[in-house]
Amino acid sequence: MVLNSVRSTLLWILIPAVLLTSGLSLWISGLELRDQVNTAFDRALAGALQSIALNVNTESGGLAMEQPFYMLEFMELATDSRVYFRVATEDGLSEIGYALLPMPEGERLEDGRPVFYNAEYFGEPLRIAAMALNSSPRLITPLGSRIIIQVGESMEGRDAFMQRVLIQTLRKDTAILVLFILLISIGAILALRPLRETSERIRQRSAGNLQPIEEAALPREVRPLVQAINIHMERYARKATTQQQFLDDTSHQLRTPLSVLMMQVEYAKSLAVTDEMKEVLDAIQQRLNNTIQLTNQMMALGRVHDAADKLRAGQSLEEVDLCQVARDVVGEFLAAARTKRQDFGLDLPGTPIIVNGIGWLIHQALSNMVSNAIKYCPEYSRITVSVARTDDEVVLQVEDNGPGMLPEDMALAGHRFRRGAAGRAQHGSGLGLAIVQTIAEINHAYMKLEPAHEGKGLIASVRFPVRYSPDSTT
Ligand SMILES: Nc1ncnc2c1ncn2[C@@H]1O[C@H](COP(=O)(O)OP(=O)(O)OP(=O)(O)O)[C@@H](O)[C@H]1O
Ligand SMILES: [Mg+2]
Repeated sequence: MVLNSVRSTLLWILIPAVLLTSGLSLWISGLELRDQVNTAFDRALAGALQSIALNVNTESGGLAMEQPFYMLEFMELATDSRVYFRVATEDGLSEIGYALLPMPEGERLEDGRPVFYNAEYFGEPLRIAAMALNSSPRLITPLGSRIIIQVGESMEGRDAFMQRVLIQTLRKDTAILVLFILLISIGAILALRPLRETSERIRQRSAGNLQPIEEAALPREVRPLVQAINIHMERYARKATTQQQFLDDTSHQLRTPLSVLMMQVEYAKSLAVTDEMKEVLDAIQQRLNNTIQLTNQMMALGRVHDAADKLRAGQSLEEVDLCQVARDVVGEFLAAARTKRQDFGLDLPGTPIIVNGIGWLIHQALSNMVSNAIKYCPEYSRITVSVARTDDEVVLQVEDNGPGMLPEDMALAGHRFRRGAAGRAQHGSGLGLAIVQTIAEINHAYMKLEPAHEGKGLIASVRFPVRYSPDSTT
């Protein structure tokens, strides 16, 4: 059996151990109980023996006694068992009571001292007390033998009593055991709760959050593990920062030579004399444009990561009016949409909608979504930027009636350098939606892509859960 949970380890080891110890203690109590019950019941037998001894009469020269029936009857009633007695001379010649009541084996009775023993009487197990009395001189016996008095009692009374006590003990032990299992289970749950809470917090973290895991609230036993994970994460974060830094620096360094190249190509075009030369230079210019766009997007991503680092270092979010952001972005892209004769519009509520976030980042995210819509939708398409508030979300969205995205492209959107079906026909770097997604996470929001209502086109949105947006709409 593989015990891969602390709780089952506790239960599977502790419970059998407790069962074993309580079984053992029950068995030992059973043994001790037998002695205690015998001592108590034997005392009553000894009393009966004494009272018979007082009633034995040898005045007549023979053995006589007042029959002790009342006393025996009372005893039978009190102990719930059958009682037998016998008074006889040691030689067995005179005898009163139950004949052949067995004598103790092997030992000679001491005068006046009762002896207790177990024996069988016609198949019935009995506990017997026997005592010898010095015979009176008047008693006529050939060998001057003593008088033997025996009182025997069947075992039912003792057995029933013992059974009662044992059942009581068993009940008590079972109750304690159940309580014990309950306490262990509750204890295990309580002890593991901080672990579960920490796992939940880690699961809800954004992908880029490599902050150390809080260890103060965790059980001491798991802290070394968490410390090791923290050290590992710190190393990883340092490596990721270095890589990011390298990427940012490279894109920055590339920008100047690319701009210079662009100017040179422009100049070369003005000098080109043949159509072929012009064509080649056009192709070079197109390539250059794409590369410049790529470096721009990479720099944008770098700036977004920078902002995320600053937030982690304690920079706080600001209040951003999404309606204003939407107006600004639409203004910037109006000319581009006009050249494609697209119906580019805004759908805003009458009042500002404020969220907690970073303004220029949200602006950047919306720019990427709008630029995609303008780029991938054909001429005369309709593109609408809107801001709305539902019960639990504030939604900043761009809806178009262009080619839309395939489900598999939507599922993979947000992966860097991933381009979709529509993207292949256009120039682009495949970073736009990755930037949108990263920005959404930084602003405690998420990006959503879905087919547009009429089954044609795309709705791309950034959704802010309402708890992060202080009210303002009403
Ligand atoms: N409005 C849209 N309609 C149809 N397809 C879209 C739309 N927006 C995005 N896509 C698809 O998603 C892919 C990824 O978009 P993303 O913005 O990340 O990269 P890109 O536009 O190709 O490059 P860039 O980094 O220059 O934005 C695109 O290649 C395109 O196939
Ligand atoms: Mg794009």
